[in-house]
Amino acid sequence: MIEQAMFDDAFLEKLRAAVSGAVLFDEPLSRYTSFGVGGKADAIIFPKNSEELSRAIACLGEEAVPFMPVGKGTNLIVRDGGYRGVVISLSGLHDLRIEEGVDGAVCIHAEAGAPLAYVVDLSLREGIAGMEFCAGIPGSVGGAVRMNAGAYGREIKDVVEKVAFITGKGEILEQDRGSLDFTYRRLALPPDLLILAAAFSLTRGDREEIRKKVEKILALRKEKHPLMYRNAGSIFKNPPGISAGRIIDETGLKGLQTGDARISEMHGNFIVNLGRAKAVDVLALIDTVKKRVFEERGIVLETEVCIIGEDR
Ligand code: EPU
Repeated sequence: MIEQAMFDDAFLEKLRAAVSGAVLFDEPLSRYTSFGVGGKADAIIFPKNSEELSRAIACLGEEAVPFMPVGKGTNLIVRDGGYRGVVISLSGLHDLRIEEGVDGAVCIHAEAGAPLAYVVDLSLREGIAGMEFCAGIPGSVGGAVRMNAGAYGREIKDVVEKVAFITGKGEILEQDRGSLDFTYRRLALPPDLLILAAAFSLTRGDREEIRKKVEKILALRKEKHPLMYRNAGSIFKNPPGISAGRIIDETGLKGLQTGDARISEMHGNFIVNLGRAKAVDVLALIDTVKKRVFEERGIVLETEVCIIGEDR
């Protein structure tokens, strides 16, 4: 474990000078994920803007300290042994800005740590159409871009115009939609690129119509997803042409429980934390599902959630 005492003083001083927000050591990552499972990170830092983020990354890079960005932690399972290195919380980078275009075109610029819900709310208030499908997707802008989040027939890639990144050396660069390699629930990125902000290409629309669409989607999600429990959204990617939730349902695995983790009775592709679940419980359920689905249907399910960190 990299303990505070093991960072040399000069490095700690540089890191603290780089970031005006908190620098916490030995911090439980269960506090920073929607699932609420997982062990401690050696350190977590909270840069407040892109300059601080850039300085922090440069500083970590110089010392070859491993680091990992986290937005709202909604698609993340951290193993119980935690993360060896520094977690960078992007929660302090949450600015949004509207840029008017011509003929009703509008662009919303959003920093990576902004909740996607802020973008949906802003577009609703301002009568901007195009983000409705994101209503109820819990996560940050950066996470949604990284995972090419989607629902109801649309994906982030359909609305993204450009994405700004920070390199492992702390330099900022931008890429247009055309040069970004989006696939189902994934944006392929070199390991040293971190998403800093995204611009969404939208249009002026009728506020009442937008509100109706958003409300319809929120109601559908409430009806289908077990939102009363902590969860990480869909656990598995849908295999081509079929829903993982339906397969799991047909395999009779709904309601299966290990510790305080349970395969939701409401939707087969959700695992819920009934209160004190450990990552090991969730991972055991994931394994069981994969094995049973392969044995019974010959289908290899792939996880959609990111699984990181060390076993205890
Ligand atoms: N179904 C069952 N049993 C279940 C779950 C689903 O029979 O336990 C059936 C439903 O009745 C429906 C079909 O399977 O006929 C599809 O289900 P649903 O509409 O819930 O969609 P999904 O394919 O399970 C995908 C996304 C969701 C997104 C919805 C709506 C993936 C892995 N999941 O789910 O995204 O909200 O479509 O568009 O692509 C997420 O990524 O975290 C997520 C929730």
